[in-house]
Amino acid sequence: MKITFCCTDTKAEPWLQGLSAALPGADISVWQPSAPQADYAVVWAPPQQFMDEQPGLKALFNIGAGVDALLKLRLPLNTLVVRLDDAGMAVQMAEYVCHAVIRHFREFDGYETDMAGGRWGYRKPRMRTDFPIGVMGLGVLGERVAKALAQFDFPINGWSRSPKAIEGVRGFAGAEQFNDFLAASRVLVNLLPLTPDTANVINKDTLARLQPGAYVINVARGAHLVDEDLIAAIENGHVAGATLDVFRTEPLPAGHAFWNHPRITITPHTSARTLRDESIAQIARKMAALQRGEAVAGVVNPGRGY
Ligand code: NAP
Ligand code: GLV
Repeated sequence: MKITFCCTDTKAEPWLQGLSAALPGADISVWQPSAPQADYAVVWAPPQQFMDEQPGLKALFNIGAGVDALLKLRLPLNTLVVRLDDAGMAVQMAEYVCHAVIRHFREFDGYETDMAGGRWGYRKPRMRTDFPIGVMGLGVLGERVAKALAQFDFPINGWSRSPKAIEGVRGFAGAEQFNDFLAASRVLVNLLPLTPDTANVINKDTLARLQPGAYVINVARGAHLVDEDLIAAIENGHVAGATLDVFRTEPLPAGHAFWNHPRITITPHTSARTLRDESIAQIARKMAALQRGEAVAGVVNPGRGY
């Protein structure tokens, strides 16, 4: 079995060593232009030239959960696209989102400012029933996040394309239930894939439909959010603030309004990192299964966009 590795911004050597150890006998190398045809590829944001020169791949393994960058390319026909299926990301995402929600709900920012200013003072406890949380996207990551938040007794709403029955989560599905989902939510957590249907989904109209004092947590993709609509909704007082991990342009350009906004917390696309060892083990297991002619989980539907 021949494997080619083509991952932008990723140190190749540890991946090659890990894959070789997990798949003894496989011939694994870093892709170069005009390299011979491989059976499988391990990729992150490869160039179009890579796709054009590897038309006979049986499967492309994306070393992330989101496949939006990959699906922008012209892909070889009949090549399976396989995304990372959790591989240690879901628990990281649950940590990140629970931290952001609790930090806002318990007003830890305010206490931090008070302590730094030498002020000892209490804030009135808030009712968690006043902070219903809406999780957009109930897939591998969104379901884990919704269940983790439910452990803190917040009312949880979830929105997906198809109806879901998740314990502790009030389900809404499809475009026809989107406005009801928003109206039932004060905190909005975005865990949708970026597709033509979901681009710009957090905009002036959706923000206005959230309950007053709304809070936005975007951990999916920057292009889901209309930046200036968020700033305007914070300025008009309807939205209290936001935690953002992803941006239209990454790194976030110097001078962007999000850098120094007092009500926006930013992190550098780090809410759920690809964990190399877990990812190698998962990819190797799936390659071996495909070689035996078995089906694998995490196969992307290019028509759907995720
Ligand atoms: P996933 O398993 O593919 O789940 C996607 C969910 O979104 C599904 O519940 C799906 O509904 C729902 N959905 C898709 N299109 C929809 C639409 N038009 N309307 C309503 N619901 C829709 O994805 P995942 O693994 O949870 O990951 C989600 C995203 O997180 C990734 O695509 C990536 O962009 C982002 N991510 C970010 C980081 C980071 O570090 N910031 C790390 C990993 C991933 P159905 O269940 O009905 O199909
Ligand atoms: C990271 O953003 C991923 O999609 O895995």
